[in-house]
Amino acid sequence: MSASPALVIVGSGLAGHTLARSLASLGYAGSVTLLGEEHHAPYDRPPLSKEFQRGDESTLMLQADGLAGVQVISGCKAVAIDTDRRALALSDGRQLPWDCLVLATGARPRPLAGSDPQAPVHFLRTLDDARAIRAKLRDGLKLAVIGGGPIGLELAASAGQLGARVTVLEAAPRLMARTVPATIAEVLLGHHRASGAQVLLGAQVKAIHRGGVELADGRRVEADVVVVGIGVVANDDLAHAAGIATDDGIFVDANFRTTQPDVYAIGDVTRQRNPISGRFERIETWSNARGQAQALARQLCGGTNGAPRVVTGAAAPWFWSDQGSLRLQCAGLPQGDQEVRRGDPATGLVVGQWSAGRLVGVAAINAPQDFNLLRRILDAGQSMTPEAFASLTELRSPPNHTPEGPAEPVPVTVTPSDGPAALAPSAPLAQVPSTLPPPPPPAAQATAPDLAACPLEDIEEGAIGSTSLPDGTRIAIYRIRGEEVFATDDKCSHGSSSLCDEGSLEGHLIECGLHLGSFDVRTGKPVSTPCTKAIRSYPAQVRNGTIWIATQPIEPSP
Ligand SMILES: Cc1cc2nc3c(=O)[nH]c(=O)nc-3n(C[C@H](O)[C@H](O)[C@H](O)COP(=O)(O)OP(=O)(O)OC[C@H]3O[C@@H](n4cnc5c(N)ncnc54)[C@H](O)[C@@H]3O)c2cc1C
Ligand code: FES
Repeated sequence: MSASPALVIVGSGLAGHTLARSLASLGYAGSVTLLGEEHHAPYDRPPLSKEFQRGDESTLMLQADGLAGVQVISGCKAVAIDTDRRALALSDGRQLPWDCLVLATGARPRPLAGSDPQAPVHFLRTLDDARAIRAKLRDGLKLAVIGGGPIGLELAASAGQLGARVTVLEAAPRLMARTVPATIAEVLLGHHRASGAQVLLGAQVKAIHRGGVELADGRRVEADVVVVGIGVVANDDLAHAAGIATDDGIFVDANFRTTQPDVYAIGDVTRQRNPISGRFERIETWSNARGQAQALARQLCGGTNGAPRVVTGAAAPWFWSDQGSLRLQCAGLPQGDQEVRRGDPATGLVVGQWSAGRLVGVAAINAPQDFNLLRRILDAGQSMTPEAFASLTELRSPPNHTPEGPAEPVPVTVTPSDGPAALAPSAPLAQVPSTLPPPPPPAAQATAPDLAACPLEDIEEGAIGSTSLPDGTRIAIYRIRGEEVFATDDKCSHGSSSLCDEGSLEGHLIECGLHLGSFDVRTGKPVSTPCTKAIRSYPAQVRNGTIWIATQPIEPSP
């Protein structure tokens, strides 16, 4: 490999885009080219089935900045890899030389046989797919969604909110059979039926015609539009043709290496060892794509004498799915040999799974704080007993501070686990840049702190507290170390998550507990997707042992 290696990334989805940005921010020594076949600027897929369908495009685009020095080629497909000459053949006839090649080619919708070519059938993977569906959604539209997985259910919820008459057809006896415990599937079923959708389980599709769907048992479901969401297949053809080991996914080791030297793979296209189950699986989640990309960037930048530093990307797989008002979050395995359930969907339901006495999975509905606590325990390769889980309220951390009187901090107690060696401790927050640029000088409109929020000692170093302004606005207060304190809006700009209740503080970064976007607490500026809009910050300082904050925010600069 040359001293200034040429790195080419194939695929400009979340994984490819995150890798390119991370390499740029870490100062990768060689040239970086990001190649994508789609004609759009890099965008995020989760909104496509949710807010995008309801007309909100604010969370769609991935951060456009941070790609300084990266050559971006859009609307061009990689068609062949020459591993001997180390060159990539492009659809426009060009050859792109590489020293290091990263395949981030994602996945495509699994096709469904038996569809009349004239039938109005859609799939949902790309922005173009989402636009085509959105153009048809309207009040009274009869929509059949084939597949009761997360994307089908999210779309069903969005379409229902727009007034469509939705029927979900699921071939299995329950919803989301691959990814959530039966207890959670029952709650989902009740939620979608209560929201007005018709949900048919055990519904095998025989054919799709203009006007409807024919089921194997002879039933017919009328539909103006049909959306098929029955899973995805990996875009691994390029790798397979180059002799790289694949099986509906490119096999990678813990350092994202394929079976070909200097060729790596990340994101939905990979088949990797699940650190919890120990099996090789495809993990088709946003957090996996982002986490792998960030870990690979650190690995490629951390080498000395040209040798990559080995960094494992192991962490408990997790995903979220927002289905109307219902927030689902799952980490680890959906099933174990013992299940314990806490709470209820209205106030927050958490279901834990144990295998051989070890915590292996957690699923939550409308309970992000409890979920994040348990996810971190899983991530750290630790465990907790079902009894401790049953008394989860005692484990909440950090406490919420208010001017009226802070709650007592209660320590989190976890037990070490004998988990598999592959389960390396990981710190999710270390995946976002740890060296943030210094904050800008105080804005001209900054006003002096004028509200006594709480005694400094009420918030431990590295912890988050909160207070409320006279108008009721909730403010998050961050104590970094000593008397270094900052304050921002409590509400994440991406959704409705509370940063003090559900977030985690790492240095000057606050990470939102719902989708793990993050902000710089000194400025309120977003640091990582899916957060793209700044939150307001409030001047804060310590005077005579008390934290004071200004009631007037510093408006975020564009
Ligand atoms: C509608 C929808 C909603 C989702 N919601 C959630 C959610 O709520 N929570 C969650 O955890 N996950 C969610 N996901 C999954 C998440 O978006 C994916 O896990 C993530 O996008 C994977 O990123 P990726 O970069 O690996 O692949 P992709 O996003 O698929 O990107 C791969 C890119 O590579 C390009 N490409 C492929 N082959 C070539 C080639 N030969 N040459 C050039 N370019 C190529 C493709 O066109 C594509 O743009 C959702 C996905 C969808 C589709
Ligand atoms: S609500 Fe999505 S990152 Fe905060």
